[in-house]
Amino acid sequence: MTASSLKYASISDRLDGLGAAKWAVHIAGKQRAAAGADLIFLSIGEPDLPPPAKVVEHAITALRAGRTKYASGQGEVGTLDAVAAHHERRSGLPTTRRNIAVTSGTQHALYAAITTLVETGDEVLVPDPYYATYEGVVASTGATFVPVPTLPEHDFHLRPEALEAAITPRSRVLLMNTPSNPTGAVLSEAEIDAIGEVCERHDLWIVCDEVYAELTFDRPFSSPFDRPRLRERAVSVASISKSHALPGFRSGWAAGPEEFIRRLTLVSETMLFGIQPFLSDALVVALDEQHPEVRRQRDVFHERAQAMVATLEGSTGVRVHLPEGGMFVLADVRPTGLSGLDFAWRLLDECGVVVMPGESFGARGAGHVRLALTVEADVMAEACRRIRELAEQLAAEHRADTQEG
Ligand SMILES: Cc1ncc(COP(=O)(O)O)c(C=O)c1O
Repeated sequence: MTASSLKYASISDRLDGLGAAKWAVHIAGKQRAAAGADLIFLSIGEPDLPPPAKVVEHAITALRAGRTKYASGQGEVGTLDAVAAHHERRSGLPTTRRNIAVTSGTQHALYAAITTLVETGDEVLVPDPYYATYEGVVASTGATFVPVPTLPEHDFHLRPEALEAAITPRSRVLLMNTPSNPTGAVLSEAEIDAIGEVCERHDLWIVCDEVYAELTFDRPFSSPFDRPRLRERAVSVASISKSHALPGFRSGWAAGPEEFIRRLTLVSETMLFGIQPFLSDALVVALDEQHPEVRRQRDVFHERAQAMVATLEGSTGVRVHLPEGGMFVLADVRPTGLSGLDFAWRLLDECGVVVMPGESFGARGAGHVRLALTVEADVMAEACRRIRELAEQLAAEHRADTQEG
């Protein structure tokens, strides 16, 4: 038999190390829990509160009524209209079904949007720290991922000067996220206008991941897609995964200019031919009505964020600031002298708490760990107590080492 010369395309080489590797601590935690270990998980952004009962009931009714056939690639007309109405209500700007494509969650919308806009030779600008899947999304297209630093002293808000400094003739897209995972930064309308002005000047698209749009605390949510001047270059991607605590429904969308949506649909339906009709029906109910569970969830995450910050504040080992939105607190563990990754492993091995290392979210996340607000208050308080204790012990050792050295 001759040696096989079966070959693989380069896409999986480019993605190697950008997927599961970022979740190594969480995956190890899951394996240990399956083997009987008693662990507290603050690692994954999975809402723990119940979804709106009405949305779930509607999915069941639609399923029983036989809504189990094929949907259309762009989305069923009623669902497109519901998403368009949601954007029109929010922005006050005319939005029709031709501005919308329904997708299997935000992740699918992100992949389809970036694939529609860039290819090898192009550059995508991404505020750093960034959500862990963005590198893979950009790498899969062959385009170059260009991190744009955001700083703790600016509460991790993207500054127009930092964006401008990273732009080259190959820049095509700014991929941003507000409220941000992992930093909790929520950009104001004025900030979006200033960033948008830079994008206009350099003729860049703005793809904005708005999966946490319903989860802002004390500030209003703002979007480039809601700004009249930016509409021709702005794309919004979102879902009901976080807002309605329904990540398993895989129900999301992209909103953007008509020609963009026409082209995105070609990409999107090549891989996934629409979403399940019974879930598509439930998405309409999710968006058409105000559900008390959505508001309650925002209030609970806000309370938990305040409680977590209060428990960790003033520590000599870990520094925190209150997130402006989202589901996470980004904690700075540099006083311990460890990387975020090493701290996360020590926390798992010695304290039974599972967190995400900041390094999974880019160079600017280094020396941090991301703590999800997705457990009950008493469990969270216990996790924070263990985090603080370990961080203070390590920081004291680190100070002693550096003094000796
Ligand atoms: C910033 C961000 N974007 C996208 C996603 C994926 O969302 P979806 O479930 O809608 O695909 C997540 C999930 O954690 C996220 O945090």
